[in-house]
Amino acid sequence: MNPSERIAAVRSQLLERYETLESKTDILKARELKELFSIIPTLEPHERGAFGQAVNALSIELKQLVERDVSDSKPTRVPIDVTAPFDVNSPLPSLLPSELGTIHPLSTEIERVSDIFQRMGFIIEQSREIDDQYHMFDTLNFPKGHPARDDYDTFMTVETDANGESFVAPAHTSTMQNRTLKKYKPNLAKGEPIAVVVPDRVFRNEDLDARHEHTFHQIEGVYVAKGTHTGMLIATLQTFLSEYYQKDVEIRTNPFYFPFTEPSFEMMLSCPFCDKAGCKVCSFEGWIELLGCGMIHPNVLRAADIDPNEYTGFAWGLGVDRLVMMKNGIEDVRHFHSAKLDFLRQFN
Ligand code: DAH
Repeated sequence: MNPSERIAAVRSQLLERYETLESKTDILKARELKELFSIIPTLEPHERGAFGQAVNALSIELKQLVERDVSDSKPTRVPIDVTAPFDVNSPLPSLLPSELGTIHPLSTEIERVSDIFQRMGFIIEQSREIDDQYHMFDTLNFPKGHPARDDYDTFMTVETDANGESFVAPAHTSTMQNRTLKKYKPNLAKGEPIAVVVPDRVFRNEDLDARHEHTFHQIEGVYVAKGTHTGMLIATLQTFLSEYYQKDVEIRTNPFYFPFTEPSFEMMLSCPFCDKAGCKVCSFEGWIELLGCGMIHPNVLRAADIDPNEYTGFAWGLGVDRLVMMKNGIEDVRHFHSAKLDFLRQFN
């Protein structure tokens, strides 16, 4: 059987089985589908592209089928055209009495997350809206001219600092790592850890769409003490996530690259909305990719005058907007800055 016949055979086999399945999401875990994926790397390079695309297409087809059939328990929100300056189809919103404001859903969530970390012993600090490249890159082990700097789509000012470098609108809350390490370094001499969380706005020069905004929110965490190890990083974040979702969640890590951590990880969380059964929020994967983290790179500790032979630490960066979107079934990140009362009043 040639490769495309093989895919066609698996397809009709799976479609037939699908009809008989009680738990429709099980089709996405079918052994035959996994086998097709595992064939891809064994093919000759010239065959790989077309075969890979065809397997992907089959996987997407099955996902769409499941999505159509599995009823979504998330609340559906009133669709609002976020790109229009105002919604021509709806009547003018009634004005609230001036003493009645509403709390923005992002503020509510940042407060909840900060509160949990505070109870875990972390101090809360703020970031800033304009910074220099020394803090945004140099102290975080991005050498000058390193291509990883380009990954951050950073807004730069025309004005320059004393070194002739543009100022930046911070593209991540990690821009505060060096300052917090220096500020709380005296803790270490007293035998206490540095334990700081920084929630704030960050900015990136992105093309805007339903999942990308130029302004979004992150929560940075930094912990340094003698003998800190990866197990403590995982335990800290798992404890936080279980408290946040008010249920036991599982954690999975994948290796990743950040210049400021070594090793670096991408952390996945078992989907708290379906407990891995598969739902729209986790794209029927059972797992959600949530944050970047790792053990703080020795050069980052050195940049804050902390001896990496004596102290080790971990750090993470958590995107808040996605957390709030998943929790509330919000389909478009641009709602957050749309200032539309119809949207905001759903969170009273
Ligand atoms: N700053 C990273 C970003 O925005 C996120 C991040 C990853 C922060 C790993 C960390 C970390 O502190 O250890 O892409």
